Amino acid sequence: MIKKDITLAVEIYASADELNESDSNLLALAKDATKQAYAPYSNFKVGATAKLVDGKIVTGTNQENASYPVGICAERVLLSVVASQYNNAGIDTIAISYDNINGESKHPISPCGLCRQTLVEYEERTNQPIRLILGGLKGEVYIIEKAHHLLPLSFTATDMDTANEN
Ligand code: THU
Repeated sequence: MIKKDITLAVEIYASADELNESDSNLLALAKDATKQAYAPYSNFKVGATAKLVDGKIVTGTNQENASYPVGICAERVLLSVVASQYNNAGIDTIAISYDNINGESKHPISPCGLCRQTLVEYEERTNQPIRLILGGLKGEVYIIEKAHHLLPLSFTATDMDTANEN
């Protein structure tokens, strides 16, 4: 038996003021995008803004439904838009922010499990790591080098490939 540690490296910035201009602009767009969210049930508005590898900017927001499980997170809305409207383009960076109408939105949130799985598959199919910038309306900002890091030991298409059996 061997025991391995799997570590996650997170860059922690005291506030968005410490970010470089490009990252700071992307996070500002994600904050602004929260206004487009449809979240009348949770009152938790999420904005996810991508910078594609060619520099284009694309945004998604959470879209809820009276039938609660039908709702979809901002991150998966965003990935669906990029795949469908931008020809499965590679994504360089995604900034994720939120406005909790009942709170202060002052700590970063990170993608839910379903979104992590979707992000990992998008990275794999485009062969392009996606940097994540996570920040509330104020407070600390986290940067994670690639979405894969948020889902260690993830299940991917290669696990179903019998050529990889050992
Ligand atoms: N939500 C997102 O859109 N992204 C996240 O990373 C976390 C949660 C949404 C789902 C739901 O509409 C609301 O936030 C509260 O869970």
